[in-house]
Amino acid sequence: MIRVYFKRSMNEILETTVNEGATLLDAARKLNISEITADCKGNCACGTCHVHISNEWVEMIEPIYPASLEPYLLEKSKKYNPKLSRLSCQIEIKNEYDGLTVSLLDDTM
Ligand code: FES
Repeated sequence: MIRVYFKRSMNEILETTVNEGATLLDAARKLNISEITADCKGNCACGTCHVHISNEWVEMIEPIYPASLEPYLLEKSKKYNPKLSRLSCQIEIKNEYDGLTVSLLDDTM
């Protein structure tokens, strides 16, 4: 099992585990994270699963697939950060992501 951490403001950290091949959104769903509403249910069409990847993990995560809608949806967000922003439904968890930490955003769009 691969550990994944979601950081809330005030240093609250939520932890769960998922199998390889699950998405980061699947991990968020296990925790019923209210900040990630995932309105399009993981179809890369809404932008409501936006998170910030922790600095130490940015280089370890597969980059955004440029032909996808992900960059377009992220750029529309008020919390868009070119370095840290990702859609959790577009991140497939791999074994080497054990310990992956992301920050939750209060206002996803
Ligand atoms: S759940 Fe809609 S874009 Fe990720």
